[in-house]
Amino acid sequence: METAEIRRRFLTFFESQGHTVVPSAPLPAIEDPNLLFINAGMVQFVPYFTGQATPPWDRATSVQKCIRTPDIEEVGKTSRHGTFFQMNGNFSFGDYFKEQAIKHAWNLSTRPVSDGGFGLDPERIWATVYLDDEESIDIWHRIIGLPMDRIVRRGKADNMWSMGIPGPCGPCSELFYDRGPAFGRDGGPEVDEDRYLEFWNLVFMEWLRGEGSTKTDYEILGDLPKKNIDTGMGLERMAVLLQGVDNMYEIDQIRPLIDKTAELTGKRYGVSTSQEAAQSHPDDVRFRVVADHVRSSLMLIGDGVVPSNEGRGYVLRRIMRRAIRAIRLLGYDKPAMPELFPVARDLMSSSYPELESDFERISSYAYAEEESFLKTLKHGTSILDSAVAETKKSGGRTLAGNKAFELHDTYGFPIDLTLEMASEQGLSVDEEGFRTLMSEQRARAKADAQARKTGHVDMSVYWKMLEEHGPSNWLAYETLDTESKVLSILSQGTSVPVATAGQIVEVVLDSTPFYAESGGQHADAGILRGPNVSAEVLDVQRPVKGLVVHKVRVLEGELALSEGVQAHVDPEWRLGARQAHSGTHVVHAALREVLGPSALQSGSFNRPGYLRLDFSWRGKLSDETKSEVEEVSNLAIRRDLPVTVDYMTMPEAKQRGAIALFGETYDETVRVVEIGGPWSSELCGGTHVGHSSQIGSVVVTGESSVGSGQRRVEAVTGIEAYQYLARERDLVNQIASELGAQRGDITERIGALLKRAKDAEREVAQMRQQQMGAKASEYAHQARQIGAVKVAAITAPDGTKGGDARQLATQIRSALPDTEPGVAAVAATNGGKASLVVTTNEAARGRHLSAQGLVKAALSGRGGGNDDTAQGGGVPAEQAPALLEAIVAEIGR
Ligand code: SER
Repeated sequence: METAEIRRRFLTFFESQGHTVVPSAPLPAIEDPNLLFINAGMVQFVPYFTGQATPPWDRATSVQKCIRTPDIEEVGKTSRHGTFFQMNGNFSFGDYFKEQAIKHAWNLSTRPVSDGGFGLDPERIWATVYLDDEESIDIWHRIIGLPMDRIVRRGKADNMWSMGIPGPCGPCSELFYDRGPAFGRDGGPEVDEDRYLEFWNLVFMEWLRGEGSTKTDYEILGDLPKKNIDTGMGLERMAVLLQGVDNMYEIDQIRPLIDKTAELTGKRYGVSTSQEAAQSHPDDVRFRVVADHVRSSLMLIGDGVVPSNEGRGYVLRRIMRRAIRAIRLLGYDKPAMPELFPVARDLMSSSYPELESDFERISSYAYAEEESFLKTLKHGTSILDSAVAETKKSGGRTLAGNKAFELHDTYGFPIDLTLEMASEQGLSVDEEGFRTLMSEQRARAKADAQARKTGHVDMSVYWKMLEEHGPSNWLAYETLDTESKVLSILSQGTSVPVATAGQIVEVVLDSTPFYAESGGQHADAGILRGPNVSAEVLDVQRPVKGLVVHKVRVLEGELALSEGVQAHVDPEWRLGARQAHSGTHVVHAALREVLGPSALQSGSFNRPGYLRLDFSWRGKLSDETKSEVEEVSNLAIRRDLPVTVDYMTMPEAKQRGAIALFGETYDETVRVVEIGGPWSSELCGGTHVGHSSQIGSVVVTGESSVGSGQRRVEAVTGIEAYQYLARERDLVNQIASELGAQRGDITERIGALLKRAKDAEREVAQMRQQQMGAKASEYAHQARQIGAVKVAAITAPDGTKGGDARQLATQIRSALPDTEPGVAAVAATNGGKASLVVTTNEAARGRHLSAQGLVKAALSGRGGGNDDTAQGGGVPAEQAPALLEAIVAEIGR
């Protein structure tokens, strides 16, 4: 059965059992500051389990995209670990509990394929339960009929499930399937988890867990308000069972990537089919790493993650680099992503169509990342080569651990690559030293993360407010002024009854006209005013959906709970904000008109008077392109296009070609902002002008790179655009008056001035040459006779540069008679240091006088050059005369 079909059957089954189908949340766990990625199906439902929010339904089902990377080193070595996987889940929020959850899982698993089920053999299913969960044992045995010898009790590490962080948790019961003796030893999941493959986990979410660092070391803080169900059926694992393949890398959604890799590398996958050998054969592991990681990278970039050096972007980078390295170790040294990404897209796009439509953007990140990593590899390789050479030179056979660490840390060189490459050159690597350094670094990183974590605001206070007061009545689209009531005041995360002058606090109002920062638009500025208080609004955020929180500074008086205040948005500010936000849409549309539709926005920011927009594009924009974008933008402004706002469903919006941002979650009804009908059509919650002409104008002020494949344009809008141009005009006027020229003539005038300056420089240089020539013949006349050799030993004036000293020495040599041996030595002092240039003529060299030999004699072996001309230096300036004396002495020897 195909993976897509398993997914479909799962959702259909639970929908028929009264569950609402909820779409997967995007992979980045934006709502939870403690998680990088969604790592389980239940993450988007956490507030419902903890009771912080009321679920809109009692039962839900979903297929959630997940990323788990703690086991990344295990990928490919066992059959069970993948970095990306899909979790099919059914959830009950205080509705059904253990019995129904177990029955559902059993029914769907064992129901015949012809009847919409998965058709698993009931005789081969095992169940585990948490230690003393007699209730579940009873259900499994009495109601389902599972024999007691296939019900296994397991401890906290296996059968107590939590997200690994404080939050909801509970005992669980897992379903395993016996794949038969070919897959391992007899005896149930306790004995062999490869043969007995876990495919479904039923979590009975009833408790709240506290802090703790391992799977077992945490406390249960108490009961959740209700008893809930969270189940997870690994989609890939079910596919392994139903497709009869050995491991998750061989299912229909992944295997073609292995085959493509085999085709590219000419290597064979599945070198040995016996479990033992397959686990240990490095090539097979590499095939699986490539397949798994390419798929994960595709899904991550698809959800808006881009490679970078921190946070989510770093996880992606690490995954991509492991894939690129693995395929190189298989012997392929060309860019592989352009070959593999399209394969991954074709495998996944039936479940995730956006991968197809957004492929150009996705692949451009992937290809750029590979390109830059291949450069890193090249650089790292030369560092490794020289470290290897050094080690060999000193007679060593082991590459130092700190070298391996440096390669890893600075050049992103994975240790197994270092091992492999060192061994090709006959060296081993001090792995222990390397690991010590790595674990020290890890400890530092962990300490950092811990420190950051404690700095996090506890989101539960906002959930509580939302629960208590309901969503804020948000009127930013309708008005700039409201009569509001103060519902909550928070000072450093705690509720307070009043705030006094000078204090900065967070305030929740029953209704508010303030725009909370979102979609790139800066929060509104303004003021809260009451009979006893005025407070300046510094920032406005929406920490949880529906709740608008104002950060204010109390200017005078006292801000008190339950008091009435006038909430007043600064109208000038809002006008500027509307101009800048509409300006951003106009520039985006202009970019796409000029560069083509692949120039898609990846991020933006705007505040009154200013906007910036990041978009996918390789390479710098030329000045002409920038001007064109600016011109198209301003023509659109001049056409006075209507700006319209419509609400519709997501499919309707897509049909209209509205641009959505990736990695954003959208509600069922979306807001589409259009400027000039289809010319600019975007999903957007921002505030906008009514007609494009109200933007005033757009002036592009900058264009730069923000990471590979990403450019940024910056522009000013509205009155700021005028002010910017006025400043430029004043500057031109100032230059014109300095030059005493008409504005129209200034470029010509500057050209003429530059030419005059250049001519003057040339003249000065010529004069210096002449002077030097005259000096040179003077010096040549003063040459001393040392034996048969004429020696001109000169101290040049202080401040003479190296190039001039050299020229002087050459000119003196030409002025010496060429019939007899001649040497010119010039010592120059500059910045407290002395340098020396020596030249010899042919007759001198005939007598074995070498310029290089003389310089080395004077500078105790230092200096460089050849027999004809040589130089050296770096000694204190006072030594200049001694250098010349040393030359003379050497010639006289
Ligand atoms: N949350 C549980 C898991 O991820 C069940 O969905 O295994």
